[in-house]
Amino acid sequence: MTDFSTRAVHGVGHQDEEPVSPHTAPIHQTTSFTFPSVRDGVDAFQGSGAYLYTRKANPTIRALERHLAALEAAPVETPEGARAPDFDVDCRFFTTGMAAITAAVLGVGGGGRIVCQGGIYGTTEAMVSTLDRFGVEVAFARVGDLDALEATVTEGAPPRLVYIETPANPLTQVTDIEAAAAIAHAAGARLAVDATFASPALLRPLAWGADLSIHSTTKFIAGHGVVLGGSVSGPAELIEDAIEPMRVRFGGSADPFAAWLTLLGTKTLAIRVDRAAATAEVLAEFLGRHPRVSRVFRPDLSALPAGQLVTGGPMLSFEVEGGGEAALGVVDRLELITLAPTLGNLDTLVQHPWSMSHVVVPEARRIEMGITSGVLRVSVGIEAVADLVADLDRALAG
Ligand SMILES: Cc1ncc(COP(=O)(O)O)c(C=O)c1O
Repeated sequence: MTDFSTRAVHGVGHQDEEPVSPHTAPIHQTTSFTFPSVRDGVDAFQGSGAYLYTRKANPTIRALERHLAALEAAPVETPEGARAPDFDVDCRFFTTGMAAITAAVLGVGGGGRIVCQGGIYGTTEAMVSTLDRFGVEVAFARVGDLDALEATVTEGAPPRLVYIETPANPLTQVTDIEAAAAIAHAAGARLAVDATFASPALLRPLAWGADLSIHSTTKFIAGHGVVLGGSVSGPAELIEDAIEPMRVRFGGSADPFAAWLTLLGTKTLAIRVDRAAATAEVLAEFLGRHPRVSRVFRPDLSALPAGQLVTGGPMLSFEVEGGGEAALGVVDRLELITLAPTLGNLDTLVQHPWSMSHVVVPEARRIEMGITSGVLRVSVGIEAVADLVADLDRALAG
């Protein structure tokens, strides 16, 4: 007979009494797994493929990874017909977008030279800028400029990795992935693409020659502003050889509940992004006509092969006449659109890249990249477009 305290810990076990088949993916909220026998345990450590420890793999996280891999591999419609990656796609999920980016950059680019676009998400630029401390040579090429990318790739030692972001944060410049892949591959480098601003609903880089597709799943993929995460997808072999060890050994593995929440978000990704993208078009037109707005930034679809970016997507930026104080005044007067330093939520969000998301980028570089103090970035949500126009109109009227 066991003591009460022992019984409290062990109970009667928790295995399902009969096989169950849940309609939605269950959450395997556990750090480790047990084995039918000690031999099975030994085999698991020696490569049998059985789950053993959640930092390495977990069924809920695997369910999300398989789902994201299937989205990244979905055929893309183009006027010349459908195109899709001609390899098996796999994916690894990380705690954050930055953990995913770090794993990709070091896992594929470490030990050599990296060419990265400048004028992209501030923390990515800040992270890549610190890599020289770890013996990685880094060169930047202006975002959205293929000639600058090619010149930077060819002028120094051949890089191991070319890293681009399209559409770029915050000014939505686009880069033709097919052309960037040709530049990278001609130099013997791999191409990694952060496609967070578009989500896989609108942009699937692997179909256009990229070796790795990266997302901050925190944003449109999870979609509700409740869970951080990041994904790296690519050919199964590259993911297994270069990305998996980065996660297991450097420890960016996410929590099963985070994976489960993210998986839930993916179910509505297509309709959320389509609705927000249609609204963003209307808002961009409205802002483009407004006398207090000097510039509107939207992805230039004409600079890309047809079908690469399906629509302009849910992100836009605009420059308020009068600089930083004028822009902050507009934010203060908004009532519906919320000031929040993220993107990809259900509600429409605004932030001021100059003093917020891109403050980690040196001021001179922000100016060089066109990120002026008057720029506001908007992540469009799924509210009614008329209410958003009215809010912007009121705020801009001062
Ligand atoms: C384009 C882009 N990539 C990566 C990240 C980093 O993602 P996370 O915040 O999930 O680490 C962000 C965050 O805003 C982003 O905008």
